[in-house]
Amino acid sequence: TFRTNERLLTDKLHVDRHWARNANAHKGSYGHVLVAAGSRPMGGAGLLCAMAALRAGSGLVTWALPDKLLDPMLGRLPEAMLRGLPDGGLGDWREVRAEHLTELAAGKSAMVFGPGVGRWENDSHWLRKVWETTTCPLVLDADALNMISSAQDFGRWPARTAPVILTPHPGEMGRLAGKETAEVQRDRIDIARQYAERHNVTLVLKGARTVVATPEGEVFINPTGNPGMATGGTGDVLAGMTAGLLAQGMSSAQAAVLGVYLHGDAGDRAAAARRSAASLVASDILNYL
Ligand code: APR
Ligand code: MG
Repeated sequence: TFRTNERLLTDKLHVDRHWARNANAHKGSYGHVLVAAGSRPMGGAGLLCAMAALRAGSGLVTWALPDKLLDPMLGRLPEAMLRGLPDGGLGDWREVRAEHLTELAAGKSAMVFGPGVGRWENDSHWLRKVWETTTCPLVLDADALNMISSAQDFGRWPARTAPVILTPHPGEMGRLAGKETAEVQRDRIDIARQYAERHNVTLVLKGARTVVATPEGEVFINPTGNPGMATGGTGDVLAGMTAGLLAQGMSSAQAAVLGVYLHGDAGDRAAAARRSAASLVASDILNYL
C-alpha cells in the first residue's frame, strides 16, 4: 500500500527522457565527474565507481586517488583521466589534503566521494572541509557516510548551495540515524524520509526494494534488482552511476531514482544472462548498463 508521496518506480517515469542524445553532442555536453575513491587495499572500489560514472553517460571522468595508487591503476581504465594526490607515500587518504581535492573539484559537474577510501584520524573534520569548500553536486557513499556518523555536529554543517545525495546500506543508515540495523529494516520508508527532510539531502536507502527519499518528503520505491547484487562492489557501481547522471544536469531526485532503477535493471539482465543470480559480480552490472 502506498501513502501520499510514495511511488513505485516504473520504466516510463524517468527513463525515457534520459537516453536521447542530441546529434550534435560532444563530450563537453554531458558533464565531468570527479570520482574520489579507492585506496591501497581497495583500489577496485575506485575502478568500479569511475567506470560506472562513464557507463552512466558522463562525458568526462577524472578519478582522483592517493598518489601511490596511480601507477598500478594507470591503464586499468583508459577512458578516465587519473590524478594522483600527494599521500605521503602511504597509498591511502590519511595524508591527502582536503584542499587538493577541492582544487580538483572546481569546475566539475558532480563529485562522488567514499567508495574504498577507508577511515583515518579526524576524517569527519576533513570531510566537513570538502563539504564546505566544494560547489558541485555531491554523492557520498560508504566510509564517507561513516565519517558523517562520527561527526558530532553534522546537523550544524553549513548548507551547501549544490545538492547532496547519500547512499547508505541499512548498516550505514543505522549509524547515520543512531539506530540498530534491524530497526532501520523494520521502518525503511519513514527512517529514510525523516533523515532526508531533516538534513536536506536526497537519501538512497539501499537493499531489496531500495527507497529514495527527497528533501521535500517524496519517496520512491525501486522495483528492480535481485539478491545476486548482494556482492562486494555493487554499491560502488551505484555511487558512480548516480554521480554520472547528476553530472548530466539531472536533479538529485531524478539522478537517484534513475540510478537505482537502471542499476537494478542491469543487475536483473546480468543475472538472467548468467542464468544464476549467485554468480553475478559487480562488473557484470557495468557490462549490462
Ligand atoms: N535485492 C536487490 N538489490 C540488492 C540486494 C537484494 N537482495 N542486495 C543488495 N542489493 C543492492 C543494494 O541495493 C545496493 O545497491 O546491491 C548494492 C549493495 O551496495 P552495498 O551494500 O553498499 O555493497 P558494497 O559497498 O558494494 O559492498 C559491501 O560495503 O559497508 C561496506 O564494508 C562493507 O565492504 C563492504 C561493502
Ligand atoms: Mg557500500
